[in-house]
Amino acid sequence: CGIVGYVGAQDAAPILIEGLGRLEYRGYDSAGMALAGKSGLKVRKVSGRVADLAADLPARFKGAPGIGHTRWATHGEPTQENAHPHTDTAGRVAVVHNGIIENADELRAKLVADGVEFASQTDTEIVAHLIAAAFAAGASDLEQAVRQALRQCVGAYGLAVLDAENPDRIVVARNGSPVLLGIGEKEMFVASDVAALIGHTRQVVYLDDGELASVTATGYRTFTLDARTTAKSPSTIDWDVVGAEIGDNAHFLIKEINEQPRTIARALSGRIDERFSTAHLGGLNMTVREAREIKRVTILGCGTACYAGELGAQLIEDLARVPATAEPASEFRYRNPVVDPNTLYVAVSQSGETIDTLAAVQELQRKGGRVIGIVNVVGSTIARQVDGGIYLHAGPEMSVAATKSFTSTVTAFALLALHLGRIRDLAPEQGRRIIAGLQMLPEQVTEILAQSDAIADIAKEIAQSNSVMFVGRRRGWPVAREGAQKLKEVSYVHAEAYPSAELKHGPLALISPEMPTVAVVPDDDLLDKNTSTLSEIKARKGPVVAMAHRELSTDIADRTLVVPRNEPELDPILMSIPLQLLAYHAAVVLGRDVDKPRNLAKSVTVE
Ligand code: G6P
Repeated sequence: CGIVGYVGAQDAAPILIEGLGRLEYRGYDSAGMALAGKSGLKVRKVSGRVADLAADLPARFKGAPGIGHTRWATHGEPTQENAHPHTDTAGRVAVVHNGIIENADELRAKLVADGVEFASQTDTEIVAHLIAAAFAAGASDLEQAVRQALRQCVGAYGLAVLDAENPDRIVVARNGSPVLLGIGEKEMFVASDVAALIGHTRQVVYLDDGELASVTATGYRTFTLDARTTAKSPSTIDWDVVGAEIGDNAHFLIKEINEQPRTIARALSGRIDERFSTAHLGGLNMTVREAREIKRVTILGCGTACYAGELGAQLIEDLARVPATAEPASEFRYRNPVVDPNTLYVAVSQSGETIDTLAAVQELQRKGGRVIGIVNVVGSTIARQVDGGIYLHAGPEMSVAATKSFTSTVTAFALLALHLGRIRDLAPEQGRRIIAGLQMLPEQVTEILAQSDAIADIAKEIAQSNSVMFVGRRRGWPVAREGAQKLKEVSYVHAEAYPSAELKHGPLALISPEMPTVAVVPDDDLLDKNTSTLSEIKARKGPVVAMAHRELSTDIADRTLVVPRNEPELDPILMSIPLQLLAYHAAVVLGRDVDKPRNLAKSVTVE
């Protein structure tokens, strides 16, 4: 979900619509906004997109301050009633909220017993009624009323509140879901994500958990739930505005796929040390001695970040010979994991906001684990929480399906593996081999991107299937998993990924002329094993599309996409790019909402 707010001399509505448009990648089930003014509170909301809200705004919807929201439904369906802002019964207070109030049922029951009638099924509406109740019980100002209301709430929130009786301010609060303030000239902004502020200001203040802020046109004051004032200093956002604009591209997804030669180069920039054939990673905040004491690496992330972590684990084992595994952060955090001081924990997150990954980091730190982050968004919650890390510098990723962040993450892992390897027993010439491979990547990615039309042809056939099998072995296995994930999320064609050798233990039963297989077949020591898997599939008349380093015989693959060869450890980066294009073109053929697939959100800040 996304929150944006404006207080100043301009009309809030156009600013909110623009900001919500930029946040829409985080949720797009419904949208709404509220303005406070002399004539009270004005609220408008729609079930649908920000564009529907903009079209629905009457001409008289003018004034400031205002708050807006774009929603990814958790409690209650994405209907107009459940869209934010939510108000109290008298229509005095409006609230927009990201997160979940965990004791919502209990609070709702209490409010109902006091005679409150609810207009929606959301947990957010509870906050509006609690604020109204605090005023009724004598709270003297909005800040106090919000504090009193939030002291009763258990759970995660980032929220913004507007009060018709205090139409000069917005009060915001953060606990587990990001909120930041943007400082302008005699105007202020609030948002859940810096993307909303593009074009308005680069000066921002990030709230910490447990903090609130009262924001007026001329400034802000931050304080805690028990009214202690806190000190903040603004940061400057280094935001590549161009990166967040779609330009001439049909979709952000294809723009971001095509950006990969540059984004991979940026992940490498300034980090390669040719003299010692190693990588410089200053952000790790770790001495060589500490790095040498690492006995194990555990990588955590969700979705695509986790698949990138699986490739990262193999890179670390291959190059540094340190045992490494990756697992979904969402599983790890509920497992009561044994936290070991000699393990390096790596949290992977493009957005730096995924709640399950953040919770895993916090749990690890509570138990004394050392955690580094591999994160794209500078200043995000995970980036600020970890003990050190590697920024991807891939620029804003707007499409819900992750692409450039995936390849940049794997590139960052290659650097980490190289660094850990070279302070152990990776030979200098092995370091040089990997460095040369990394430096070749941008050009080779460009070569693959030039095959987009051929891949689009294959995608037309794939798009007609009800279900697609993806197979790969060793490093090809996470590539297959990520390929299947991309196809599912953007084209809605069912896909599943299996390690090649596991096929015969069950899923081979699914293979038929109706179920194509996409196979990752690098020309390495496992080539024979992989081709025999393909023969098993062809024997069952299953159509096969292979990603390979040379044209395969038509006996085993109906179509081969020839991918340039790099070092075996780095080949997965290149092999994953045709699969991104395959998913993109399949989604286009099927007329899907490519950048905003149904039911998904870019950054999942709820559990
Ligand atoms: C969501 C997105 C995925 C992403 C995952 C993790 O599910 O739709 O594309 O891989 O979250 O996001 P993160 O920002 O933590 O990498």
